[in-house]
Amino acid sequence: MQILFRGFLALLFFSIVSVSFAAGKGEFMTADELGALQSFTGKAVIKQGDPAHGRSLYTFYCTPCHGLKGDGEGQLAKLLDPKPRNHTDGKGKRAGDGMNDRTDEQLFNAITKGGQGINKSVNMPAWGHIISEKGRWDLVSYLRAIANPPYVPKK
Ligand code: HEC
Repeated sequence: MQILFRGFLALLFFSIVSVSFAAGKGEFMTADELGALQSFTGKAVIKQGDPAHGRSLYTFYCTPCHGLKGDGEGQLAKLLDPKPRNHTDGKGKRAGDGMNDRTDEQLFNAITKGGQGINKSVNMPAWGHIISEKGRWDLVSYLRAIANPPYVPKK
């Protein structure tokens, strides 16, 4: 367990380095681009959250497992079973299992309580004591912004 944790820290470090590198090469969306993407797709990102801030939190905390693009292909993904969720998969492999089928509250809960709190893999950490409540809503709104097909809020 401790080895896994040390490996995690090391990978977290390298992923931050590679993220800064990628950002330098313009592979990442800026806050403006993200805003443009949202108005283009007409995605009303949830009212509580700031997706641009969510994106920076995501880059720091989530990419080691969920990947730079949120597709579940982070550096640690190989070691994990079940695999980290592909956050870009709006539709899901089975009906009703897409990211777009989750409510905002379900995503917020998953982030807050971790896998253990929602009867999923314990490898998904709980972030409730690490990321502020606002930050966790910002993450939800970022997750909404990267879903494909685009997330359409339910009335
Ligand atoms: C140490 C690896 C790891 C890190 C870091 C991590 N996750 Fe996860 N996450 C997982 C795994 C593994 C699953 C899949 C759990 C399952 O399907 O049983 C998951 C699943 C999820 C889910 C899906 C829950 C659902 O409804 O199916 C959400 C949402 C999520 N993670 C958000 C985040 C966010 C946001 C962060 C960063 C703040 C994060 N994760 C960081 C490993 C990780």
